[in-house]
Amino acid sequence: MRKILLALVPVVTLMAGVASAQDSHTAKSHPAKAHKAAAATTEKKLYDRLGGKKAITAVVDEFVANVAADTRINSFFAATAGDKKRLAKFKGNMVNQICEGSGGPCKYKGKDMKTAHAGMGVQGQHFGALVEDLVKALDKFKVPEKEKGELLAILGPMQSDIVEAAPAAASAPATK
Ligand code: HEM
Repeated sequence: MRKILLALVPVVTLMAGVASAQDSHTAKSHPAKAHKAAAATTEKKLYDRLGGKKAITAVVDEFVANVAADTRINSFFAATAGDKKRLAKFKGNMVNQICEGSGGPCKYKGKDMKTAHAGMGVQGQHFGALVEDLVKALDKFKVPEKEKGELLAILGPMQSDIVEAAPAAASAPATK
């Protein structure tokens, strides 16, 4: 057995050599192909640069903990936080939304952002607070500025579907 294995080593080494020679041949004779190959290896998807689903899940857990402790917005999430199943579903939706949005192999199956937030009365300052809580979570896991910026650029445009017009100020009693 050992003899067979030893005999195989040079064959495998030789095959590897042939493969790499073929690669460099292809690259030399087809510069466009070589360029594509280089781009594919340097430009990873945001999903992968964030560290994949496990890392995204860790960020979402931290983010939700930040929101729960944030007195500027935690009242919006009182019912969510008080129901384990609902909280788990919300976190799962957040993870899938970020995973899919960053090019990962997930599918977000929740509501669209307009429907999900309809009637909540979310204002610009609430949106800002929530983004701060997310940035705090990304910073805790040392997500680099570039990746942080790319993720925020995906979520930022959702603001117009989430934030509602401020309720009209109560009209002053009519005076004669
Ligand atoms: C970019 C910003 C935001 C994103 C990406 C986002 C994302 C989501 C997602 C994916 C859901 C689940 C939808 C579903 O159940 O199908 C959700 C629900 C919800 N969001 Fe947002 N949201 C954002 C901003 C906000 C803000 C600013 C507030 C309030 C301060 C807020 C409050 C809520 C609440 C209370 C729910 C319901 C949670 C539950 O199902 O119990 N969201 N959001």
